[in-house]
Amino acid sequence: MGSSSLICDSESWKDLKFHVEDIKKTHLRELMADTERCKSMMVEFDGNLLDYSRQRATLDTLNKLLSLAEAAHVKDKINRMFNGERINSTENRSVLHVALRAPRDAVIKSDGKNVVPDVWGVLDKIREFSERVRSGAWVGATGKPLKDVVAIGIGGSFLGPLFVHTALQTDSEAIESAKGRQLRFLANVDPIDVARNIAGLSPETTLVVVVSKTFTTAETMLNARTLREWISSALGPQAVAKHMVAVSTNLTLVEKFGIDPNNAFAFWDWVGGRYSVCSAVGVLPLSLQYGFSIVEKFLKGAWSVDQHFYSAPFEKNIPVLLGLLSVWNVSFLGYPARAILPYSQALEKLAPHIQQVSMESNGKGVSIDGVPLPYETGEIDFGEPGTNGQHSFYQLIHQGRVIPCDFIGIVKSQQPVYLEGEVVSNHDELMSNFFAQPDALAYGKTAEQLLKENVPQHLVPHKTFCGNRPSISLLLPSLSAYNIGQLLAIYEHRIAVEGFVWGINSFDQWGVELGKSLASQVRKQLHVSRRKGEPIEGFNFSTTTVLSRYLQASAD
Ligand code: F6P
Repeated sequence: MGSSSLICDSESWKDLKFHVEDIKKTHLRELMADTERCKSMMVEFDGNLLDYSRQRATLDTLNKLLSLAEAAHVKDKINRMFNGERINSTENRSVLHVALRAPRDAVIKSDGKNVVPDVWGVLDKIREFSERVRSGAWVGATGKPLKDVVAIGIGGSFLGPLFVHTALQTDSEAIESAKGRQLRFLANVDPIDVARNIAGLSPETTLVVVVSKTFTTAETMLNARTLREWISSALGPQAVAKHMVAVSTNLTLVEKFGIDPNNAFAFWDWVGGRYSVCSAVGVLPLSLQYGFSIVEKFLKGAWSVDQHFYSAPFEKNIPVLLGLLSVWNVSFLGYPARAILPYSQALEKLAPHIQQVSMESNGKGVSIDGVPLPYETGEIDFGEPGTNGQHSFYQLIHQGRVIPCDFIGIVKSQQPVYLEGEVVSNHDELMSNFFAQPDALAYGKTAEQLLKENVPQHLVPHKTFCGNRPSISLLLPSLSAYNIGQLLAIYEHRIAVEGFVWGINSFDQWGVELGKSLASQVRKQLHVSRRKGEPIEGFNFSTTTVLSRYLQASAD
């Protein structure tokens, strides 16, 4: 297959289209009865166990998906990514987030230059700065230590760090290390988010970290100006130097904003926003809260998966297998969504983060060469921790639409509780559900079974579960910083594999631009209408009507 032809024209794709018709005739009840098949669908890496036996797939399907990966040159694309080639062709950039977690002695090149020393230059600067802030050597304008941090940023400059922060918050080592400190995230331009984030904080003891790759994002810059005003009106404009630092690739704009360039932490255009949690974007706020050594463990976990992804054979490669199975579910079985269901409250921000990584990466309509695609790409990702989700949207997953599920379980709870007299520990209670749900989805419950249980005839259709609903189960040994890094990298690489097979550019995001430019047109209109009383011009009837209502009603 040539590089500009579409994967759907390959023999492997056509073969799978044919094969899926056979699979549609099978039920997971039959597939699960084949123990040899199930045995082959377990993969272990560094204590993580992936069980994908509840996919609507046979070993034959697997072989065909591996052929598809070959036809799509997935191995070559992975190599090109790790070699720093400019695979993000529409932005003419390399895609090197793996370099952010590489050990000091690794060599990863972009444009012939080893980027690892630059990465460690910033990491060392973060270690030193965060230790000074945490120890009280760096103080605010009135001489008080800065115990609270507000990180301002949105999208990729927010969701990943929030996910990791939320996951670490209940880890014993992290709790110990964060004692007396607070980390908050201000993302939305909604003034309510500002109010919530500064509630109970004093500018005297707060450090604001402005996180923006471009340093032009409207929401982040307005929030940054708002908190700059909060600090300078309380402590004087000179206080900004002590109370505001920045993370950006655009150090010129950082300086223009009034933040001392010495207090700016750089990253590079080869780090995509949604893949930036391992850069200063995540490492700085997380190190301020938990100390650099804990964050370093997180980076090591991600790097361990990078190595596995780069070198493990595809049939034993967790991100590759997950990526191929996602393509199978979307493009062949026709399931447009995926539910991310961690049985861990600590992972409550995993789904919101993966929503961005996945949907901003793979929600594309054209191939990497700009050819309109005759097939859909991307998944609709959503999720909630179990068991909460079970009492919310699982009804639809069990008896309504078919939504492939990711069940994520943890062997050792971060906060185990054993109650005297209870049958099992609280964590075992949680995990009972983690084990039960995939089987409930796969096997369902038949009318015959219900009748045997004397269920009244009129209720049988309502209580029948047709089953045959696919899921994967991923069992992690624990939820330390290291494991959190591994989980992040598994998802990042899985999503890249999907994009590599679909033949799209998973690393640009032009789809977010149109809304931004229309908002700027509205912003100008609001300005001239409010300040100069000028009429609304240049909008369609609907927007003009609603905008007029907003202007009139909010002026009252
Ligand atoms: O929403 C689009 C987007 O460009 C994301 O890709 C990015 O993570 C986010 O905005 C924030 O951008 P920045 O870090 O430049 O402020």
